[in-house]
Amino acid sequence: MIDTPPAVELHVHVEGTLEPELITELAARNGIALPYRDIEDLRARYAFHDLADFLALYYANMAVLRTADDFAAMTRAYLRRAAAGGVRHVELFVDPQAHLVRGVPLAAVVDGVAGALADDAPGLGITTGLIACFLRDRPPAEAVDVLRALLAADAPLLGIGLDSAEVGHPPGGFAEVFALAAEAGLHRVAHAGEEGPAAYVTEALDVLGVERIDHGIRSLDDPELVDRLVRDAVPLTVCPLSNVRLRCTPDLRDHPLATMLHRGLRVSVHSDDPAYFGGYVDDNHRAVAAALGLTRDDQARLAHHAVDAAFVSAERAAELH
Ligand code: ADE
Ligand code: ZN
Repeated sequence: MIDTPPAVELHVHVEGTLEPELITELAARNGIALPYRDIEDLRARYAFHDLADFLALYYANMAVLRTADDFAAMTRAYLRRAAAGGVRHVELFVDPQAHLVRGVPLAAVVDGVAGALADDAPGLGITTGLIACFLRDRPPAEAVDVLRALLAADAPLLGIGLDSAEVGHPPGGFAEVFALAAEAGLHRVAHAGEEGPAAYVTEALDVLGVERIDHGIRSLDDPELVDRLVRDAVPLTVCPLSNVRLRCTPDLRDHPLATMLHRGLRVSVHSDDPAYFGGYVDDNHRAVAAALGLTRDDQARLAHHAVDAAFVSAERAAELH
């Protein structure tokens, strides 16, 4: 059992924190008829075959998010849960395109999420940053347009990321939006090697210039890539309960986290979409420590890696360590 609670959450999608109770509450508020009988019926659908199967429900449930208040309510609920789990710094992903395609204005998304972060996080003792992710199964030119709109609106962004359906959507196509983000002084991360091959991790580093890899568990398939990730101390934000629920790994007891850690990789533990995968970052830490028999030293290293991987000042890092 861990005695130090996790301090830093670097891989969590705000839309993946939308709990069934809040889905039904927002649906009622917005007069939206849900295609589920009740919360139990909704929860019964949380048995996923793969990433695509999950993403279909994840995007469908976003229908209840219409106004800035809805996005703020979701973000506030997440912050409260994160604080209760010991989180003191969070870098939160948001998927603007998933809302724009439904006709929700960009301002509702940004004002709602960023407003709640600014208003609520300080009182909970949490520092935050917002990372806008682009959907890799939509056109790269659309990502460029959306980033330009975010920059024009002065959205308070820490960085950009790349997510959604991975296989068949290699990162290289998104070079332009990542170059634009670099020019704008934004941090850059990308999902790679979750369901997709190790080659996508290499491509995300070489073509997109990312500073962190989200997931990256398939990196182990390529020993040369592993050597490079160790040598360059590239952070990998691993989400064990997500990997089991999306069948990227058959069982938590077979999860590659321990192998990755002992091979010298800068892995840390995070939650991905906690409302869907059975646990927040503290739950992930407890579950993986028990299933893999992690030592106190292993757990301390995981916690240290998360702080080292965070996009924070040296002063804040020292407080978090
Ligand atoms: N969007 C939300 N969760 C995701 C995941 N696990 N992989 C890719 N895209 C996502
Ligand atoms: Zn993710």
